[in-house]
Amino acid sequence: MNRPVMEGVRLNVPAGVTHAKLIEWVAEMAALTEASEVYWCDGSTAEYDRLCAQLVAAGTFKKLNPALRPNSYLACSSPSDVARVEDRTFICSAKKEDAGPTNNWMAPAEMRELLQTGSSALFRGAMKGRTMYVVPFSMGPLGSPIAHIGVELSDSPYVAVNMKIMTRMGRAVLDVLGTNGHFVPCVHTVGAPLQAGQKDVAWPCNTTKYIVHYPETQEIWSYGSGYGGNALLGKKCFALRIASNMGRAQGWLAEHMLILGVTSPEGKKHHVAAAFPSACGKTNFAMLIPPEGMNGWKVTTIGDDIAWIKPNADGRLYAINPEAGYFGVAPGTNDKTNFNCMASLKRDVIFTNVALTDDGDVWWEGMTDEAPAHLLDWQGKDWTPAIAKETGAKAAHPNARFTVAATNNPALDPAWDDPKGVAIDAFIFGGRRSTTVPLVTEARDWLEGVYMAATMGSETTAAAAGAQGVVRRDPFAMLPFIGYNMSDYFQHWLDMGQKLQASGAKLPKIFCVNWFRKGADGKFVWPGYGENMRVLQWMIERIEGATTGVEHAFGTTPSYGDLNWNGLDFTAAQFDQVTSIDPAAWKTELGLHEALFEQLAYHLPMEMSATKADIEARLAA
Ligand code: OXD
Ligand code: MN
Repeated sequence: MNRPVMEGVRLNVPAGVTHAKLIEWVAEMAALTEASEVYWCDGSTAEYDRLCAQLVAAGTFKKLNPALRPNSYLACSSPSDVARVEDRTFICSAKKEDAGPTNNWMAPAEMRELLQTGSSALFRGAMKGRTMYVVPFSMGPLGSPIAHIGVELSDSPYVAVNMKIMTRMGRAVLDVLGTNGHFVPCVHTVGAPLQAGQKDVAWPCNTTKYIVHYPETQEIWSYGSGYGGNALLGKKCFALRIASNMGRAQGWLAEHMLILGVTSPEGKKHHVAAAFPSACGKTNFAMLIPPEGMNGWKVTTIGDDIAWIKPNADGRLYAINPEAGYFGVAPGTNDKTNFNCMASLKRDVIFTNVALTDDGDVWWEGMTDEAPAHLLDWQGKDWTPAIAKETGAKAAHPNARFTVAATNNPALDPAWDDPKGVAIDAFIFGGRRSTTVPLVTEARDWLEGVYMAATMGSETTAAAAGAQGVVRRDPFAMLPFIGYNMSDYFQHWLDMGQKLQASGAKLPKIFCVNWFRKGADGKFVWPGYGENMRVLQWMIERIEGATTGVEHAFGTTPSYGDLNWNGLDFTAAQFDQVTSIDPAAWKTELGLHEALFEQLAYHLPMEMSATKADIEARLAA
């Protein structure tokens, strides 16, 4: 079918696609954006290869040396387009209070005027001179009762190829949609129309950026950025911001969580979902290799960033990873910190903003002990260790990324693609805190766990534009990703707990961790990475009722003897450094909880302040 929508533009609807609403919407967007062509992605390997070749020809991609990094590419973005832009991200609910005080808000009509309906609306003519790619994708295994479908219209072939890796993308999704299946419409433009004869740049984008969500109508509109979290709309925009709204309405959870399987030496398997803020090691934790001395333990990856969790008929919570690939932070990744990740990255990867070696491979800070003698940095400038020493210039951008299929991961869990999901035994919440918060604390009940998650603080990282290393409250690691009022989200978690409890099911345990305590020398005390398995073992033993801990003001923490130290020389004094509770620091910390609660006063569940009062009373005693 080839229906003209306007002079010179054909919709190019593939044969057999009969979803009238979808076709109508594609036509409307093609007309609005004045795209010069419409191309429907089929998701095939041939298509991926063709688009990558096109990106190479356009200068967006460099093909890496196939002998060193087969079938892999490097993209270097504009220096102004390297991270999520939280200050340009909007939740445009009908009522401001439904977006809540932690989100930017604009009235939907006002935003639509700006983007879509006004005479100089940003999307008008935004795709001039460019192809509009129609990218149908499923978040979650195709046809899974936990999965949902989206369609992204984008004028970026970089987005199309990344979406092929990050989601189940292409023709099969349209077949599941059929004639009237539900999909979330996502529109994305880099905001760089081309006039006739105008030469394109390698990384088109716009200094004006809008990442916009309309929760009531479940729409996503993204303008001006080509960077992952702003442009791959299945990820943060759909799988977290829109999906958190769907989950609230339908009784499930969309969370910024990795999902891992952990199997004991006796062969018993548990599943854990863990929330950490961006660039705090979720991918490392999800691919953890137990250290020497912990032989027989095994960790397998279900997901590394997002979990969709629904209650099952058996009363338990089941989780899927809605994504099909990893869009992870490269700097700091090496064979010691994440061997499985390095193995995943041997081939078939899109790298963004890492450095290029002279023999056509990639490098980033922390990849090897010694840096290569010469590189082109992520902005294509000469880089040597001497230049770095003198100027502090980084070879790779601190938020440089890799995009790689989950199937490249040697530690992939056999159930990663199971439409039913995996039953969750525990939730972990962890911030990046140099002080105050102990290595691990178990909540005594669901409410205490929700309190811990709600009041979590973390030092900011390069994953978002803005100052780094500043402690901010990041409830549930969802501060940048919650698609509605944060207090209502706390209530949703409390309600979920109550419903599960009422059904007689065993609730998952909740733990809070902090791998990042520093000593007086400013160095991390806890070795982290694979050694986190020791903490995981303690959690599993707690779930099984097989070990003890010490109760304190806000939960239960293991004593030194409760952890397995086989193969690690970590003294009781060091353990004390990462677990001690400083009453003065906690007084300050509780003051920060109070400041958060003041900010979130509208609809804040009463239980939050009551739990805080209990902690204060216990601390005082
Ligand atoms: C991510 C992020 O890209 O959290 O996963 O920023
Ligand atoms: Mn993330």
